[in-house]
Formats: sequence, structure tokens, C-alpha cells
Amino acid sequence: MCGIYGIADKNKFGAQDIVNGLKQLEYRGYDSWGIAVTTDSLVKIDKHTGKIGEARSILPDSTTAIGHTRWATHGGVTDENAHPHTDCKKDLAIVHNGIVENYEDLRQTLLKKNHAFTSQTDTEVVVHLIEEYMKSESFELACQKAFNELIGSNAIVVMDNGSKSIFAARLGSPLVIGKGTDKYFIASDITPFLDQTRTIYFLDEGEAVLIKNDKCIFYKTKTGKIFTPLFAQTTITKDAVSKGEFPHFFIKEIYEQVTTIPKTTKIDRKDLESVVSEIKKAKKIILLGCGTAYYCAVGSKYYFAKYGVDVSAYQASEFTPFLETIDENSLVIAISQSGETAETLETVKYSLEKGATVIGVVNARGSSLERIATMVIPVGSGPEIAVVSTKAFSAQLAVLYQIARACNGELENGRKDIEEYGKKLGAWLNERTLDSIKELAQKLIKTPHVFVIGRGVEYPFCLEFALKIKEASYIHAEGFAAGELKHGVIALIEKGTPCIVLCSHDEEYPPILSTAAELKSRGAWIIGVGPKKAKEFDTYIQTFGAGSLTGLTAVVAGQLLGYYMALFQDLDPDKPRNLAKSVTVK
Ligand code: F6R
Repeated sequence: MCGIYGIADKNKFGAQDIVNGLKQLEYRGYDSWGIAVTTDSLVKIDKHTGKIGEARSILPDSTTAIGHTRWATHGGVTDENAHPHTDCKKDLAIVHNGIVENYEDLRQTLLKKNHAFTSQTDTEVVVHLIEEYMKSESFELACQKAFNELIGSNAIVVMDNGSKSIFAARLGSPLVIGKGTDKYFIASDITPFLDQTRTIYFLDEGEAVLIKNDKCIFYKTKTGKIFTPLFAQTTITKDAVSKGEFPHFFIKEIYEQVTTIPKTTKIDRKDLESVVSEIKKAKKIILLGCGTAYYCAVGSKYYFAKYGVDVSAYQASEFTPFLETIDENSLVIAISQSGETAETLETVKYSLEKGATVIGVVNARGSSLERIATMVIPVGSGPEIAVVSTKAFSAQLAVLYQIARACNGELENGRKDIEEYGKKLGAWLNERTLDSIKELAQKLIKTPHVFVIGRGVEYPFCLEFALKIKEASYIHAEGFAAGELKHGVIALIEKGTPCIVLCSHDEEYPPILSTAAELKSRGAWIIGVGPKKAKEFDTYIQTFGAGSLTGLTAVVAGQLLGYYMALFQDLDPDKPRNLAKSVTVK
């Protein structure tokens, strides 16, 4: 949540470089954006509400600049609350990702010392606190002292006009340094500077850096101890973070599943076997995630059950009442695309403290989850830029499916299924399929509600299907377990209510068709999704048979439907309202 970008260069560069970099980070929040540059006198700021679009910077060239794209937490979406924020004298500018939990106390103290605030944000107190400490300390010491006083998960980047330097520190929210020629970059992720360098260092928790021109000093925020970081080369290319021939990342990432799903079979077999041996040792196994990652957890639970392993799935945001049940005999499998989701990380940290083993099934490299987990299985689907998660879900599910099969001694068969699945998915993503989904999307955007119904593993797939429609199209969609309808939900059905019925699996086919018939007799519009057509369907989206993985294609159909339902309403499919990728605050 919130994107941060900064450059410190030996030579002057255009402020537009920061604006262009911020565009790559907009998936982290797009309530407002802003940049600040150093000049011969004071810092100069340009900030606005709304998305960046084709904005051109009006600021002068400089050697030091920072920028921010915001997902609002404290203070409404206004120009004043947009970052960067400055101190009273406009010598300093700050951009921030996180929440300063003690900001009100700090603000009251600073007000008594005559600091004047121009926004309602928690961020602004930090820059005034630094200003206060700079009365007696150097810029970097003042920053370090102020940062150590903050309570909460925070990443800050502060720019000093006087020394033309940038201070950055991380505790809970990600920051990565890129080493260019005669310059350094600092950002929430590597995407803004990938075209200039692939030499990177992810700041660890409690680490800070001072960048001036082309020099960088790294130190620990608590002790001030200087250290030498280990820069590495990222394998991610610029192509992986650009839309290529696609109009949106959302549709690009849907198509990428043709390769990202089978790619999971290249994960080292020994790593998966280590997970299996942890599963066999554990007395309690918990799958954990939020949103789409949680639905992946629930879907995987069905696979584990099928192959003889009993696991529980929890929403990380709802795990607090169950924390006490964790001990050294517990195995927590945390699923996360970003590896930065606040609630997931909090539960993971607690579980580690209690002696549990934590396995991270994670997509983004260098993430906090990757750093703290006992063991990591990187799902390897590459950067997921669209806010709506697609390829991370299917890759995580494919990984957990393999682990479930491996528990039963069938890893190779599981891998064959997945490879085969990738080929079939590629063939299915053809014009005919797209036309049928587009036609349905055109009709569904005229309805206020859509219900998605399934049984067995297709119940969590319904939840994920419905989430794609909700977040992309803003149309109310709800997933239900077919067997639960008669226990209340069926009261919602009236003439014409669209009910998408997922019918992928032979063992569930007769009962799910009975449900479809019951809904139809009450006037529902039945939209069947599955490999076999049935007389109960008024509309039909054909998928293909793929054994235990057949239902996964229904999720891909839901992704496509969500995409086109957004497109046909002129909504931005990559940046749905109110959302941000990587939910780093609670
Ligand atoms: C939905 C979506 C979210 C995320 C959730 C967890 O399309 O993207 O529901 O799945 O915020 O995020 P990660 O996987 O990064 O922990």
C-alpha cells in the first residue's frame, strides 16, 4: 500500500523520471500522487489527487527527488493530504508507506513546540519530528532518532534540501535499493528502475540507508551500526513488468497462466518433499491467507483431504482468537502473492515466536514473508501488477496441489496433471471461449446481483469467481455452497436472478445439477460453467476436463468475466476503486 520512489544522482535529472517511475508503482495505491525535488533554496513539491495518467512534471531538474503514490489511510483524499509532506521551513520532504500508530501523541507534542501542520496525515508528524531533532542533530541522526520513535509498520524516505541527500528506513513495509551508474534508486519494489539497473538490495527490517549523490551508507536504525549490504542481481526483466501487446496487466496475467501454472512443476522436488516431511511431523496444520490467497487456502484444503491430509484454512485477519492454539507442533503454511500482507505477517511472526514451523508459499521475491518463514516455496509466476490477483492464485494452488499429491506419494502424477493442464488451458483460451464470456459479461453488467454456486472444491472456487466480479466490475456477486442454498439463501432467488453454477467434477455433477434445477424452477437464470452441457443451463460456458484440476478453469472463466465486466463499463480493470495491491496496513 502506497508506492515510494526516490533517486539520488551525481548529475541532474528530470523530475519526469520520478513521475514515470511512480506510474509503475500505482498498483500500490492511486488516490493521489506527488513528487518533490531539491533546488538551490527550498524543496519544491507538485502533488495531485487521482491517478497519474499522462501527467507531466512541472518541477525543475535536480540531483535528488522523491515521489509517492497514495492509498489513503489517515486523512481524506485531498491535494493537502497527498505526499510528499514538508517540515515548517520546507527544507525537508517525506514520503511514507505504513501507519504511524502514535502519530496523535507526537502531533500534540510538536504542536506545543509551534510546528504548523497543513494536512491530516500521520506522515506529516514524522517530518516535523525530524525538523525538531535537526535543531541539535545531523539530518541522518535526526531521521534515525525520529524513525525509532514511530510505533507501527513503516517505511519512510526523507529528502534534505541542504545536504541534497535521502534517508530511508524500513520497519514493516518494503524498500529496495537499486545501484545504477553514478546514482542510487530507492523504491517500494524494483519496477520503477528496472530499465536502469538490476543490481538490488532489499532493506531488511530495522535497516536504514543514507544516499548522497552516488554514495550510500547502510546502518541499523536501532544501534546506528554501519554494515555492508550484499547487493544481488534480480532475474526479473523489464518485459515481465510491462503490458507488452496486451491493453491491461489484468488480461496479460490471465493469459500468462498458460505458462505460470506448468512452471510450478519445475520447483525443486526436494523442497516439496521437505514440506511433506514437515506435514507428516506436525500435529496441527494451518493454511493461512487473506482474500484470494485465503480462497486458495480453502481450495487446497479440499485437495489435501482428497489425498488423506487433514488441514484447516483460516483468514489471517480472523486468526487472532485462535492464536493460542499454535505451538511448536504446529505447521503454518502462509500463502501470499506479495509476502507483505500485514495480517498474514502478524500471524506468521506470532507462530514463529510460539515455536511453530512456517512455510511461505509466496510469489514476490525478496518479500518480508520470504525473509521470516522457516522455509519458502517461491511459486515463480513473476510480478503480478494488476491489483486483481489472477496468476498468483493458480500458481499457488498448483504448488499446494503438488504438495497434497506428494503427501500421498504421487508427486510425479500430480506434476503430469499440471503440465497437461497448462496445454489444455492454452487451447481453451481461444476466440470462441472469449466470445461466450464477453457475451455473458455484456448481459451481467445490467444486473445488480450475481450468484455463483458450487460444491466440493468448487465452493472456494465460487468465492474466488465472485470476488473477481466484485472487485473488477463493482457488481454484487456472492459465492455459495450449493448444499447451503436451501438453508436460507434460496430466498434471494427471483425471476431472472443470474446464478452461475460451476459443474466441473463428475462426483459432484448429479447433486449440482439438482441444485441448478431447483434454482431454475424458481425463475433463476442458470449459467452453467463446466466441460459438459446440461439441459438445466440457459447459458453455457464450456471448459475442459482435467481430472482434479478441472474446476480451476472455472476460476479462469471468472477472471475473464470480471475483466470484461470492468471493460464494458469503462472501468479501469487494472486499478479498481478503493483497492491497492499489497495490503501492508491492518
Ligand atoms: C484479490 C486480491 C486480494 C489479495 C489479498 C492478499 O484479487 O488481490 O484479495 O489476494 O489482499 O494478498 P497477498 O496474496 O499479497 O497476501
